[in-house]
Amino acid sequence: MRIVLLGPPGAGKGTQAKRLAASGKVAHVASGDLFRKHQAEGTELGNLAKTYMEKGELVPDQVTVQMVLERIKERDAEIGYVLDGFPRTMEQAEALDRALAEQGEAIDWAPLIEVDKTELRARLGGRWVCTDCQTPYHEHAAPPRQKGACDVCGGTLAQRPDDRPEAVEKRLEVYDSQTAPLIYYYERQGKLRRVNGAQPVDVVAGVLLLAIA
Ligand code: AP5
Repeated sequence: MRIVLLGPPGAGKGTQAKRLAASGKVAHVASGDLFRKHQAEGTELGNLAKTYMEKGELVPDQVTVQMVLERIKERDAEIGYVLDGFPRTMEQAEALDRALAEQGEAIDWAPLIEVDKTELRARLGGRWVCTDCQTPYHEHAAPPRQKGACDVCGGTLAQRPDDRPEAVEKRLEVYDSQTAPLIYYYERQGKLRRVNGAQPVDVVAGVLLLAIA
C-alpha cells in the first residue's frame, strides 16, 4: 500500500493518515512532522525549514524530496506508507514517481480530502497538536479526553505557529497555486479518489477506506 493523501491545509490529512496507516500496518510519513522534528532537534534542515514554515511558504523542493525519499527507505516503510503533505509540487510528484520507478514500484492511490475554505479556517483556528506524537485535536470537533493532554501518549498539546490567521491565508494561497495542480496529475494516472472531508472523522475514515479498497 503506497498512498499519497492529498488535501488543503486543515482538511484532515494528519487525522486520517494516522488511522489509515495503523489499519494497513504501514508507515505514516508526514513531511510537516518530519520538519517539526528537525526543528525540535535544532538541525540545520530544521532551522532552514522554520524560516519557510512560519510564513506559510513551502520549503524548497530539493531538501524536501531528499528528506522524504530517505524516510521511505526505512524498515517500517518497506511494505508501504501513507504520505501526508508530500508531494506538494509537480517537481516533488515527478521526483517521487521517478524514484519509485527505479525500484519497479509506484503509488497505488491518491485520495483527495475535500473541505471548503470556511471550514478549513475554523479547523486550523481551533487545532491543538501533541508536541510529542503530533496527534491533532480540535477544541470543539475532536477534543482530547483531558484538556491540554494527548489521549495517545499523554504529551502536552500546543497550537502551531503556522496556524496564525496570516500564515493560514498564505498556506491556502500556496495550496491553490502550487499543490492543487497535483489533483490533475494523479487524475490523469487514474489514481485520484475524491473524499468528502466535511463529515465526522469516523465517517471520513470509512469512506476513505472504501475509496482505496
Ligand atoms: P503540514 O504539517 O503538512 O501542514 P498542512 O498540509 O498545512 O496540513 P495541516 O497539518 O495543517 O492539516 P491536515 O490536513 O493534516 O489536518 P489535521 O488532520 O491536522 O505542513 C506545514 C508546513 O511545512 C507547510 O506549510 C510547509 O511550510 C512545510 N511543508 C510540509 N510539507 C512540505 C512539502 N512537501 N514541501 C514543501 N514544504 C512542506 O486536521 C486539522 C484540524 O481539523 C484538527 O484540529 C483536527 O482535529 C480537525 N479535524 C480533522 N478532521 C476533521 C473532521 N472530519 N471534522 C472536524 N474536524 C476535523
